[in-house]
Amino acid sequence: MSAQTIIRKAEPGDLDALVALENRCFDGDRMSRRSYAAALRNPRASLLVAMAGMRLVGSAVVLRRSDSPAARLYSVAVDPTLRGRGLGARLLAEAEQAARNSGAASLRLEVKDRNRTALALYGKSGYGIIGRIAQYYADGSDALRLEKPL
Ligand SMILES: CC(C)(COP(=O)(O)OP(=O)(O)OC[C@H]1O[C@@H](n2cnc3c(N)ncnc32)[C@H](O)[C@@H]1OP(=O)(O)O)[C@@H](O)C(=O)NCCC(=O)NCCS
Repeated sequence: MSAQTIIRKAEPGDLDALVALENRCFDGDRMSRRSYAAALRNPRASLLVAMAGMRLVGSAVVLRRSDSPAARLYSVAVDPTLRGRGLGARLLAEAEQAARNSGAASLRLEVKDRNRTALALYGKSGYGIIGRIAQYYADGSDALRLEKPL
């Protein structure tokens, strides 16, 4: 599967499929349609999508702020039917490259402290824990803040 799945920059026409993927992948604290539409227009945002043929099966969102040397990984998601095949790791690597290309010195992210799959992926990819934010998520769970130097 992985070899036939390409990763490219998102386009305005991907909006519906991006929102649908977000809804399939997250129970709460989702990125809204409005946020995706804004990110698609924002020159400081990098939106990447994984395409299996015509099907949008993965996404990653990186945001760069002018006042910080760190870029922020806002979201990474893989269609539930295609997990565990390396696509998350590929999206993460491409997101890091996008952050590097924008001049960022590091990539930061927040992740639910109980999201073992995502934590395994980030740990394997070289991210270190730099903090904990109590009750960061709508369901009351804490976030871990992670960072990787680029
Ligand atoms: C996190 C997510 C993007 C990973 O995508 P994926 O395509 O399954 O990831 P990969 O196949 O590249 O796996 C990468 C690593 O993650 C870990 N991993 C993957 N599936 C796992 C599982 N079921 N249990 C534990 N660890 C797992 C492994 O360390 C794996 O490396 P390995 O295959 O060398 O052992 C995907 O599970 C997802 O979309 N989850 C819902 C959204 C989410 O939580 N996003 C992160 C929010 S911060």
